[in-house]
Amino acid sequence: MATLTVKELLKSAAAAGGIAVKGWIKTRRDLKTFSFAELNDGSTRENLQIIFEAANGDFTAILPRLVTGVSVAVAGELLAAPAGAKQKYELHAKKIELCGECDPQKYPIQKKKTSDEFLRTVAHLRPRTNKYASMLRIRSELAFAVHNYFRSNGFFYVHTPILTGSDCEGAGQMFSATSLDLGKLAALPKTENGEIDFSKDLFGKKTYLTVSGQLEGETLALALGKIYTFGPTFRAENSNTYRHCAEFWMIEPEMAFYELADDMDLAEDFVKGITRHVLDNCQEDLDLFARFVDTDLPAALANVAENKYERITYTDAVKLLEAANDRFEAKIRWGADLSSEHERFLVENYFKKPTILYNKPKEVAAFYMKLNDDGKTVKGMDLLVPRIGELIGGSERENRLDVLEKKMADFKIDPAAYWWYLDLRRYGSAPHAGFGLGFERMMMLITGISNIRDVTAYPRVPGYAEF
Ligand code: 4AD
Ligand code: MG
Repeated sequence: MATLTVKELLKSAAAAGGIAVKGWIKTRRDLKTFSFAELNDGSTRENLQIIFEAANGDFTAILPRLVTGVSVAVAGELLAAPAGAKQKYELHAKKIELCGECDPQKYPIQKKKTSDEFLRTVAHLRPRTNKYASMLRIRSELAFAVHNYFRSNGFFYVHTPILTGSDCEGAGQMFSATSLDLGKLAALPKTENGEIDFSKDLFGKKTYLTVSGQLEGETLALALGKIYTFGPTFRAENSNTYRHCAEFWMIEPEMAFYELADDMDLAEDFVKGITRHVLDNCQEDLDLFARFVDTDLPAALANVAENKYERITYTDAVKLLEAANDRFEAKIRWGADLSSEHERFLVENYFKKPTILYNKPKEVAAFYMKLNDDGKTVKGMDLLVPRIGELIGGSERENRLDVLEKKMADFKIDPAAYWWYLDLRRYGSAPHAGFGLGFERMMMLITGISNIRDVTAYPRVPGYAEF
C-alpha cells in the first residue's frame, strides 16, 4: 500500500483506493455511529479527514487515545467526500497505529489561539501550528525563488567564508570566533602587554563570524561576471527591534561592469520576481496570513510586485522629510542617516510604494561605496518597503585604487589587512556593483508577520539563544 503525503493524495484525483498516510492528529470528534479525526502531516496547510466506522474495524480502544498532537500511521481507503465537504477526499481508516503519545494536559500547542510571545518559548513545537508551518513552507519556496531567479538570469551561486578576518561593513559589530578556551583565562596565551595572543589561535590571527560576504563576492564577480551568495551572516549589534536579528540570512548579488543604475534596476526586478514566484506558488499558505495576520496583505503584495518603484536621491528625500520634521522623534538634517521612522514615512505616507533612496553622504555610508563627483556623496542605495523600511542595501563599488585608499584612511581601516581587496583595483579593475537583501525582512514583507522573531525557526536575538 502506497504511503502518500496529504498534499500528494489531495492533488491526484486518481489516488482513490487503498493508501497509507502518516502525520499528527489535530482534532477528533466522536459521533453516535462513527468518529472522525483531522490529520496534518506538514506537507500542506490542509488536513486530511479520517473516518472511523465500525464496519471497517473495532476502533473502540484506540479512539480515546487519538488526542491532539499524537502521531499516527493510518491505512485505509481514500474515497470521495460527500458534497459540501471541505475536501474532495476522505480516508476511511481500516488500520491505525499510534506512533507517539501526547499528553493533552502538558502539550503546549493547544487548539485555542496562543500568543506569538508564548510560542517563541516553545519554538521547537511551534512548527506544529498552522501559522508557523505555513511560514516555514513559504520560507522554503522563497529560498527556491531566489536561486531560480538568479539561475535564470545568468548568475553563478558562490559560497563565501563564514569565518573571516575582515569586517566588511567596518561597523565593528562582529562576533569573535576563536578556538581558544576563553573560559580558562589563566591558560590563554598572552602577548607581552598582557592581551590574548591570537597569533597562537587556530588561524594564527583574530577571526570573526562574517557580517557580509560582499568583499569576497566582489573578487568572484570580477572573474565570473555575475555571482550571488545566499548564506548566514552575523551581527553583534545589541538592537532589540522588530527587524534585527544577530543571525540572519543574506542574499548578495555582485555584478562586474554594473553601475549604480543597473544595480537599482536589478534590485527592483529581483524583489518583484521573487514576490511573484511566491504569489504564484504559495497561495494556500499566503491565504492564512491574509486572513489571520494582515488583511491588507494581498494589496501590499500587489504593490510590491506590480508598481514601478520610486527613486529619490538622499538630498531630495531629506528636503521632503525636513518639511515633516514635526512628526519625527529624531529630527532629520542633511548629513544624518535616516532612521526607521524616516524610511517608513517616505514609503508609507509619502510615496506609498517601495522606494529606492540613493546617493547618501559618504560619512554615513560604507567605505567601499563609490565616491560621486561632488566629493560629498556616494553611489549607494537602499530599497525601502512599507512596514519594514530598509530591505536592501547596496552600491556601486569604489574601483579606483587611489580613491579607495584615501577612503580607507578616512575610515581608519588598515590597508594591509585588505591587500587582496585592493589587488582587485590593481589588476583589471572594472566598475562593479551589488547589494544585500535580508532574507528575514523579505519574509516579513511576504507574510505580513510584524516581528523578525517569527519568520525564522530559531531566532537569535539579544538575550536569547535557546534551542
Ligand atoms: O545594509 P547592509 O548592512 O549591507 C551589507 O551588508 C552590504 N555588504 C550588502 C552588499 O552590498 N552586498 O545589509 C543588507 C541587508 C539590509 O538591507 C537588511 O535587509 C539586512 O541585510 N540586515 C538585517 N536583517 C536582519 N537583522 C539584522 N541585524 C540586519 N542587518 C542587516
Ligand atoms: Mg544598510
